[in-house]
Amino acid sequence: MLILGIETSCDETAAALVENGRKVLSSVIHSQIAIHQPYGGVVPEIASRSHVERIDGVVAMALREAGKSLEEIDGVAVTQGPGLIGPLLVGLNYAKGLSYGLNKPLYAIHHLDGHVAANYLAFPELEPPFLALILSGGHSHFYLTEDYGQYKLLGGTRDDALGEAFDKVARILGLAYPGGPRVEEIAKRGQGVFALPKAMLEKGSLDFSFSGIKSAVKNLADKLELSEKEKADLAASFQERVFSIVRDKLLEALEQTGQKKLIIAGGVASNQRLRQVLKDIPAQVFIPPLSICTDNGAMIGAAGYYKALKGDIAPLSLNAKANLPL
Ligand code: KG4
Ligand code: ZN
Repeated sequence: MLILGIETSCDETAAALVENGRKVLSSVIHSQIAIHQPYGGVVPEIASRSHVERIDGVVAMALREAGKSLEEIDGVAVTQGPGLIGPLLVGLNYAKGLSYGLNKPLYAIHHLDGHVAANYLAFPELEPPFLALILSGGHSHFYLTEDYGQYKLLGGTRDDALGEAFDKVARILGLAYPGGPRVEEIAKRGQGVFALPKAMLEKGSLDFSFSGIKSAVKNLADKLELSEKEKADLAASFQERVFSIVRDKLLEALEQTGQKKLIIAGGVASNQRLRQVLKDIPAQVFIPPLSICTDNGAMIGAAGYYKALKGDIAPLSLNAKANLPL
């Protein structure tokens, strides 16, 4: 079964052709980084306009690279939410148009279901149930993945998502958007010498709180005239602190659920230091390759396949939802 996956929830216009939920035939991503960089973050209206300009070309390129025609696809999967409402609507309406025009089923995908499904593309042997930790720009949440597309929330951030905290720390340190990869880059040259708070919350809680750590970074940056070396040290201190919390919470989640399989997904999962920190976790740990950790159409196509198997077809009255629950 050939699914066209479309993703436009934030600042990437992406489309991909995926076979049977596991094999990527093509994946095309138009990144808007250069467009938003002067503003230090994503400007929703500008993002929407760029998606409108690019979506048709991105889908056409995905078809061309896969050597397929529109008539050959079996369905269209699209991100319904959560995300920025304008950008979501562009992809959703484009997908609806295709579905109607081609008379092929439409599949509505939750963006986080897509991030989890990135692991199905990378690891053909992976099957639910497993524990999932999603670390993206908008989410830092633990789920028990009971079946394909079926999740039970175990805990999540009470304030900033981890990617968001990385982005804010980047801004505090004067680094350009997108911040996560830049913090990781300068942290390589620094040492974790700054003491930062470790908010673990109540005993046994699987929630996170990252905003206090981010504020502590801000207070230090405001108080000190940071040299380049000290900026690197502060970035390293931040990274070490948040990843040690992630590690502790993961151990707790594994113990509470008795799961032996764990997947990590979302943009922050591309961080190399995180991969090192999780090396000796007592579980089978799956983290997708960097290219499919951040937003892409292939993960949406993979999730779409499992919707198709269940016959879970979306109506053409489908609307985008900025705060869609999983
Ligand atoms: O999953 P994603 O592409 O989009 C959302 O669904 O939010 O995640 C983007 C987030 C951004 O906050 C970005 O700064 C963060 O992931 N990120 C990273 C790294 N690469 C991306 N954070 C830390 N280290 C990285 N290498
Ligand atoms: Zn994402």
